[in-house]
Amino acid sequence: MTKNVAIILAGGSGTRFGYKLPKQFAKIAGKTIIEHTIETFQSAEKIEEIAIVINENFINEIENIVNKNKFNKVKRILIGGADRAESSLSAINSYLADNENVNIIFHDAVRPFVSETIINNVIDALKKYNAVDVAVPATDTIIKVSDNKIENIPDRSFLQQGQTPQAFKLFTIAKAYEEAKKDPNFKATDDCGVVLKYLPDESIFVVKGHETNIKITYELDLFIADKLFQLKQKNELDIASFNGLKNKVIVIFGGSYGIGKAIKEISLDYTNSVYSFSRTENNINISNIEDVRKALFSVFEKEGKIDYVVNTAAILNKEPLINIDNETINEILSVNFLGMINVAKESFKYLEKTKGQLLLYTSSSYTRGRANYSLYSSTKAAVVNFTQAIAEEWKEFGIKVNCINPERTKTPMRIKNFGNEPENTLLNANEVAEKSIKTLLSNFTGQVVYVKK
Ligand code: CTP
Repeated sequence: MTKNVAIILAGGSGTRFGYKLPKQFAKIAGKTIIEHTIETFQSAEKIEEIAIVINENFINEIENIVNKNKFNKVKRILIGGADRAESSLSAINSYLADNENVNIIFHDAVRPFVSETIINNVIDALKKYNAVDVAVPATDTIIKVSDNKIENIPDRSFLQQGQTPQAFKLFTIAKAYEEAKKDPNFKATDDCGVVLKYLPDESIFVVKGHETNIKITYELDLFIADKLFQLKQKNELDIASFNGLKNKVIVIFGGSYGIGKAIKEISLDYTNSVYSFSRTENNINISNIEDVRKALFSVFEKEGKIDYVVNTAAILNKEPLINIDNETINEILSVNFLGMINVAKESFKYLEKTKGQLLLYTSSSYTRGRANYSLYSSTKAAVVNFTQAIAEEWKEFGIKVNCINPERTKTPMRIKNFGNEPENTLLNANEVAEKSIKTLLSNFTGQVVYVKK
């Protein structure tokens, strides 16, 4: 069987993107773009080896990323060239030295949404063809322009937009570049372009790409990427099974009503080890760090481990700021903000042992403060920021940190503040709880998981 080697091309500088580092180091959902891309190839079953081509100034960054994520398929980090073709050539030369005809699967580091299906289809096509491209039908009319005037409008039904991966038998792409070198007018183009021009007898098979397999080029693409990531996340969560909760130990702060209570009730169908703490149930107040320590230790003493810590406790007080007395302000901040910090800090030593997860709750008001919720929505914005920061800090310990962002949910807290609202406009607590449990069972970290009606 021919070995399948993914080459992640990351030697570009991203001048059109306008970021202080090359765009492959910009972050989506708490991780750099290149980490998302490598992760897909690392977990793709048919990929046996990965090489990364990078500008020499960023070797350290890449080594850190590989070590931190334990990307054990990454076997080579190679220095790129002045343009993309030179970077490809650097990988081709490195593998030619082994004198083995491997399958070389080039992929842009800045296309983090490539799917395993596309990768598999490309590898399958390499059984029959020596060169394979990935493309999607062009959606815009393409016009050929010269001197600001239209020269030609090719029939769109024949036009496709190229994506990556582009994959080749090593000896085929090497031969194409060998021929290209003899051409004094050789102009760097994409790798399939080199085969097309210099090995005219080779057929280049085209595998169907996907409209989400975008290349991040401009800063605007990052916004689209964020949304695409949320969609991808939703699909992944939808297939998670609750059976993964078996033998897990779950601690819920704020489990006496609403979403926390729903999580407790659903989890109890899959594991007996669910513990809820709150002021009303057992006089545990998360704004007091001693209470949090005591609660967690009591569970540890009994179970010997804690896998998940969920904090749903929060106070919503719908009132203009100037009407809220200082004591109430302190109480809201102590529960919503300091309480979260206490829970996180005290959970660390337990979650580190189990490589577990801390799950927090934000609100759809976090992106934009609203009149009469100044304290609630600003502390909920803090939850997102805190989640992202702690997820980064705890990544090296294997602890995941996420937050759930539910739309308006029918809970006692909401009814108290807003009265009875039309049922069909509200999520129920079980829907949010189910998504929360699926998040606990996922590999996500640093993410804001949306739950929508
Ligand atoms: N690439 C590379 N070596 C180069 C140039 C590009 O490996 N010398 C890689 C990029 O890192 C990227 C892919 O090829 O993953 C596509 O490059 P593109 O986005 O078109 O170019 P960049 O140089 O990254 O960006 P820009 O053109 O905006 O400067």
